[in-house]
Amino acid sequence: MPLPSFIYGTAWKKEATTSLVQTAVGAGFKAIDTANQPRHYNEAAVGEALAGTSRDSLFLQTKFTPLNGHDNRVPYDPQVSLTDQVNQSFESSLRHLQTSRVDSYLLHGPYTYPGLSSEDWQVWSAIESIYKSGRAGMIGISNVNVLQVAALIDKANVKPMVVQNRCFANRGWDREVRELSKRHGIMYQGFSLLTANPYVLRHPQVISIAKRLSVDTPQIVFRFAMQAGMVPLTGTTNLEHMKEDLKVYDIQLSADEVKLIESID
Ligand SMILES: NC(=O)c1ccc[n+]([C@@H]2O[C@H](COP(=O)([O-])OP(=O)(O)OC[C@H]3O[C@@H](n4cnc5c(N)ncnc54)[C@H](OP(=O)(O)O)[C@@H]3O)[C@@H](O)[C@H]2O)c1
Repeated sequence: MPLPSFIYGTAWKKEATTSLVQTAVGAGFKAIDTANQPRHYNEAAVGEALAGTSRDSLFLQTKFTPLNGHDNRVPYDPQVSLTDQVNQSFESSLRHLQTSRVDSYLLHGPYTYPGLSSEDWQVWSAIESIYKSGRAGMIGISNVNVLQVAALIDKANVKPMVVQNRCFANRGWDREVRELSKRHGIMYQGFSLLTANPYVLRHPQVISIAKRLSVDTPQIVFRFAMQAGMVPLTGTTNLEHMKEDLKVYDIQLSADEVKLIESID
């Protein structure tokens, strides 16, 4: 399965998830992100959408969500050990997604900040075991700071292969975590690139780059993300936007334009 360069995200799609995932795959997206977190995602609907699609041509990623990220719909028994919670959640993901393995499995977020606690290490160890069993092609972590990624790189038995973070332009587009990830060959996935940065979409110089390339500013942000070394996620619910987003493969920003967007705050 080739590594993804652009991911369709399925958060907040509710009952439209099945049709939107089918639309996204039909439009040309080759990677789908979900989570076993009914509060924000409909993982079973992703599975339904992909039922007839060959898994060899699609990168499928889901997540284990700790108890504090759930509403009353917890996809595991909260009374059992953390190891068993991860295993139950993963088994349930496989059933939802109608598959025997996923391409990437993420810890949705650590239990503690700014460092990692014994809970985080227990959960990471359970995720490592899933990786070693061959049922997840890659493992990683989301919503992390640079200290946490560094600790995992330093001490984990199996190092993270993916980091997925919200990317704010006014924090250098998560520069420290991105750079650390790059140095260690970790795939950096950036989410909420549009919703977290509305002023970038209105920035005069971004508008002028968009004009030069005959696209809209969201595409400039996604193309910038790719050229800056990220794998962007898009959360659009609109077929036209999906098609526009995929046009980023046909445009190219200059090194100066990348530098300019990277320094907007
Ligand atoms: N790990 C985590 O904790 C976490 C948290 C949040 C999100 N995520 C992942 O990241 C994915 C994306 O997040 P997001 O929804 O915040 O991303 P986003 O792509 O930054 O935001 C999507 C919003 O931007 C709008 N939009 C306008 N023009 C667009 C265009 N050309 N292309 C795309 N969107 C356009 C969309 O409206 P239209 O629908 O009208 O296009 C939608 O309201 C989620 O679905 C989820 O998979 C992960």
